[in-house]
Amino acid sequence: MERTFIMIKPDGIKRRLISRIIQRFEEKGLYLAASKCVIPKRDVLEQHYSHLSSKPFFNEIVESMMSGMVLAMVWVGKNAVSTGRKLIGETDPQAASIGTIRGDYGITVGKNIIHGSDTVENAEREIKLWIGDDVQPVSFFDEAWIY
Ligand code: GTP
Ligand code: MG
Repeated sequence: MERTFIMIKPDGIKRRLISRIIQRFEEKGLYLAASKCVIPKRDVLEQHYSHLSSKPFFNEIVESMMSGMVLAMVWVGKNAVSTGRKLIGETDPQAASIGTIRGDYGITVGKNIIHGSDTVENAEREIKLWIGDDVQPVSFFDEAWIY
C-alpha cells in the first residue's frame, strides 16, 4: 500500500491544529502508521528542502521550521501521496481552495501549516529521513468499505 510523509509545521502545532488535521486524514480513509514529535535539526531540514537550496527564502524556511516542534507522520492508503496533497491544498494558502487544510487555516506561504510529499519517491526518501525504518505495516480491516 502507498505511503506518504505528512508533517505539521511549527505554526500548525502552535495554533493547536493537530487534532483537526489528523481528523481530515482519517475521515478521508487513510491510516496513520507512524508519528513523531521533534524539534527539527538543521542538517535534516537542509536535506528535506534540498530542492529549494538556491531560493532566496531557503534560510527563512529552515529557521522557521527550527522554531518549534513539528509532528512528522506516515499515512498509508491507496494513492496516499496525491490524496495527501489534495487534502493539504496549494503551497500558497491564498491560492488554496476553501475546504483544504491550507485554504481553511492559512493566509501566507511562510505559515502554510503543513507539509506533504509530492511524489511516491520523495515520500519514501522523506520517511527514511524523518522516521527511519521503524514503521509498522498497516492492516486494513475495512478496505472493502473505503475502496
Ligand atoms: P511542502 O508540502 O511544504 O513541500 O510544500 P509544497 O510542495 O507545496 O511547496 P515546495 O516544496 O515548493 O516548498 C516547500 C515549502 O517552502 C512551502 O511549503 C513553503 O513553506 C516554503 N515556500 C515555498 N515558496 C515560498 C516562498 O516564496 N516564500 C516563502 N517564505 N516560503 C516559501
Ligand atoms: Mg514540496
